[in-house]
Amino acid sequence: MAKIKRVAVLTSGGDAPGMNPCIRAVARTALFNGVQVYGIREGYHGLLHGDLAPLDAREVGGIIQRGGTMLGTARSEEFRTEEGQQRAMQILNENAIDALVVIGGDGSMRGARALVARGAQVVGIPGSIDNDMWGTNMAIGVDTALNTLCDAIDKLRDTASSHRRAFLIETMGRNCGYLAVMAGVIGGAEVILIPEAEMTIAEVAAALESAYKRGKTHSIVVVSEGASVDTQELSNALNQLPVGFSTRVTILGHIQRGGRPSAFDRLLATRMGVKAMDAVLAGQTDVMMGLRGRDIESVPLADVVSKQREANLDYYEMAKTLAF
Ligand code: F6P
Repeated sequence: MAKIKRVAVLTSGGDAPGMNPCIRAVARTALFNGVQVYGIREGYHGLLHGDLAPLDAREVGGIIQRGGTMLGTARSEEFRTEEGQQRAMQILNENAIDALVVIGGDGSMRGARALVARGAQVVGIPGSIDNDMWGTNMAIGVDTALNTLCDAIDKLRDTASSHRRAFLIETMGRNCGYLAVMAGVIGGAEVILIPEAEMTIAEVAAALESAYKRGKTHSIVVVSEGASVDTQELSNALNQLPVGFSTRVTILGHIQRGGRPSAFDRLLATRMGVKAMDAVLAGQTDVMMGLRGRDIESVPLADVVSKQREANLDYYEMAKTLAF
């Protein structure tokens, strides 16, 4: 096994709180072990345009508490092409990069595999608020996003109960209901709509009417991005029905991606960053760091990109019971 002299790190796809402490952990672990570190700006887009520069230990100082990513991130169409991937390999070789650490979501892990297939040594770290990736119980950023959701729901409940309203709160998650379900459980939602479970407008109306008749002063409906019913259409329909509550819509959007990483995310990001560098130094490739039980383990990237994470419908059912 050839000695690793230089590694590069990039963040790709949607940013997630905790990417900065992860970059710090990767860089400092490498530098501590006498390995040079290059930071690639704006993900694969930056890579194939040669936008990379050495990082020293001080440059990754003071970022442990910062949301977003100091390296910038992007979704690159160009990198999906044959030519883009060839160009990326050329840049890695021209800069004598022995190994690459990719922090991002499932699309980023697919990109990592494309480089592995062309001979690069690549180790992935899951960073995405959606928590839709196979192979890790939690991705970096999920916990902070849930704290943001919890805070938002608490605030919306204050105004909802003052006016006897139902609030429809739309969460992110692309095609995955994880954030919505967990936000619903910790926020005390009456109804949760997720892509993994069909629910009709009539069923939502019945649940709200029943809650109203049971004496509730407010209702919280968490609607996941990707759910079968559009949030605004649902609100319009509910306002025409005799559910008791009038409705308002809040689409939380990108606020869920920002903010200081929580204690949990800082720790997860730090542990994963250190373990990823350990994996690089041990010669591992084509793997992603996964939180399995209490441990950070290497899981095959082949599984990460091909297997579907199962929706946890136990929590979904639990929320229904607790809405009584
Ligand atoms: O993957 C993270 C995520 O925030 C999804 O929940 C959402 O569907 C998507 O990214 C939004 O992407 P963009 O920031 O490119 O609009």
